Amino acid sequence: MAEWHALEAALQARVTGERLAHTYRVLETARRLGRIHGADDGQVAVAALMHDYAKPLPPAALLAEAVRLGLTPDPVERAQPHLLHGPVAAALLAEEGLVTDREVLQAIASHTTGRAGMSLLEKVIYLADYVEPGRRFAGVEEIRAEAERDLDRALLGALNNSLVYLVRQGWLIHPASVEARNWLLQELQR
Ligand SMILES: [Fe+2]
Ligand SMILES: [Fe+2]
Repeated sequence: MAEWHALEAALQARVTGERLAHTYRVLETARRLGRIHGADDGQVAVAALMHDYAKPLPPAALLAEAVRLGLTPDPVERAQPHLLHGPVAAALLAEEGLVTDREVLQAIASHTTGRAGMSLLEKVIYLADYVEPGRRFAGVEEIRAEAERDLDRALLGALNNSLVYLVRQGWLIHPASVEARNWLLQELQR
C-alpha cells in the first residue's frame, strides 16, 4: 500500500473542490464510526480517502474504464454508469499499485450500491458516505445518530431510504442494493 501522502497526492490529482471536501468529511466520519464499532483504523482511513477516486470521470469514460479494467458492467450499470465509480476506483487503485489490501478495495467498490454480506469495513464506509455532515436530506439525522449506536440498523435505514428515493425519482435500482437490503433485513431478524 502506498504511503498516506502518496495516496493524497494521487487523489488530489483527480478529485478537487467540493468533492474533495466531501472526501475529507467522509474520512473523519468513517474514522469516528470505525472507532466506535471496532474497525481497523488504517483500513478505514484508506478506504474513506480513496472511495470517490473515480467519481469525477464522466459516464462514458467510466464505462470505457470499466471495460478496459476487465469489469463486466451489468445492464443497470450500462444505463447509469455513475454506479461504476466505486468498482472503477477499486480497479484503478489496484492497477496503479496504490491500494493492495483486498478488503479496502472491496469497501471502495461497494460504497455506492452496497452488497449482500458486507463486512464491517464496508458498512462503515457506506454509512460514513451517507451521513457525513454535508448530507442534508430528509431522514439523515436519524440515520446519523443510529450509525453511532447500531451500525446494522443504520445501514438498513440508509438502504431503505435510498431504495425509496430511487423509486420516487423513477430511476433504476441496482440489484446489489436490493440484495444488500434483503440480506440485512434477514440478519436483523435472526
Ligand atoms: Fe461515491
Ligand atoms: Fe462519496
